[in-house]
Amino acid sequence: MSTANIGRWAVNPAIRASRNGELAAVASREEDRARAFADEWDIPRAHGSYDALLADDEIDAVYIPLPNSLHREWTIRAAEAGKHVLCEKPLALTEAECRDMEEAAAANGVKLMEAFMYRFHPRTDRVLELVRSGTVGDVRMIRSAFTFRLTKPDNIRMDASLGGGALMDVGCYCVNVSRTIAGREPIEAQATATWAESGVDEQLVGTLRFDGGLIAQFDCALTLERREMYEVSGTEGYLTVPNAFLPGTEPAGVQEVRGRDREITHTVEGADEYLLMVEHFSDCVIGDLPPRYSPDEASRNMRVIEALYESARNGGTPVALAPRAARQVPTSAT
Ligand SMILES: NC(=O)c1ccc[n+]([C@@H]2O[C@H](COP(=O)([O-])OP(=O)(O)OC[C@H]3O[C@@H](n4cnc5c(N)ncnc54)[C@H](OP(=O)(O)O)[C@@H]3O)[C@@H](O)[C@H]2O)c1
Repeated sequence: MSTANIGRWAVNPAIRASRNGELAAVASREEDRARAFADEWDIPRAHGSYDALLADDEIDAVYIPLPNSLHREWTIRAAEAGKHVLCEKPLALTEAECRDMEEAAAANGVKLMEAFMYRFHPRTDRVLELVRSGTVGDVRMIRSAFTFRLTKPDNIRMDASLGGGALMDVGCYCVNVSRTIAGREPIEAQATATWAESGVDEQLVGTLRFDGGLIAQFDCALTLERREMYEVSGTEGYLTVPNAFLPGTEPAGVQEVRGRDREITHTVEGADEYLLMVEHFSDCVIGDLPPRYSPDEASRNMRVIEALYESARNGGTPVALAPRAARQVPTSAT
């Protein structure tokens, strides 16, 4: 759905290369743009509107890489049209929007997954194995960063009305990896931001406090040289993960340091994380299986992002996050 850059360079090729999916159609707000895109990428059908795509009976699932402010509307419309949805990160603008999308997917019996591709890279599983097996002892500190320098002022990331900003665009990865490594939800969020004239956060530094004394700190920016990493520090050692979210398809490393004597690099074989994500999603659609990452997981991430923004807008005052109860979402069968 759309001629977005991320579709062009990563996800559409992954759909095409997948063992269980077929890139059947593209839609754009402009018929000519859809046609040109379809010709360029040899896609069988081109639709001049997103509605036309949703009315296409040959389509089982849609991939939504629209500006963040449009994720909710088009995910719900796709679900109501009976299409499964792989939607770009962040799933929506707020936790409440994520909930609406989760409910629409459940009510219409379709799968919905947020496209955080880094989670499908085998290195992410390797880090989790190392952490869970106690390699670094008791984890007390997670540091992460995702920054890059945006040079085009008309980019969707600079537009507040489209859900732009550094935290929405790249900080969401840091929040996600921190929560994943911690294995629990933060109890407090605090952030400080530098705001662009357009109203979006162009740099943001966030701190998440978890019970048990664990703190996660991260920075994200649309103004700095590309940097993506995370570091997991514990009582016995630490792990460093370079090129954390976009490691490419070459073998990927995790550096482990313990005491003064042990410093080794674990190397994980290269993989296309977009391909693995797309194939997993298609497996879930075809086999009627729940995706590995639920819309509830996405809404928990969004809840933390909202708290960070609240703190940043209030001069960095920490925002408490109360424990959240599990929810019952009515499904098409209930
Ligand atoms: N997972 C990842 O690795 C990754 C990487 C980059 C971006 N993303 C996510 O993917 C999404 C798109 O990012 P992108 O950089 O690919 O964006 P982009 O190149 O600007 O594409 C967005 C597309 O949305 C459509 N659109 C509909 N209404 C629009 C509006 N009012 N303004 C602008 N475009 C509009 C346009 O397609 P038509 O004109 O053809 O309809 C446009 O091509 C975002 O949610 C972003 O967070 C994910």
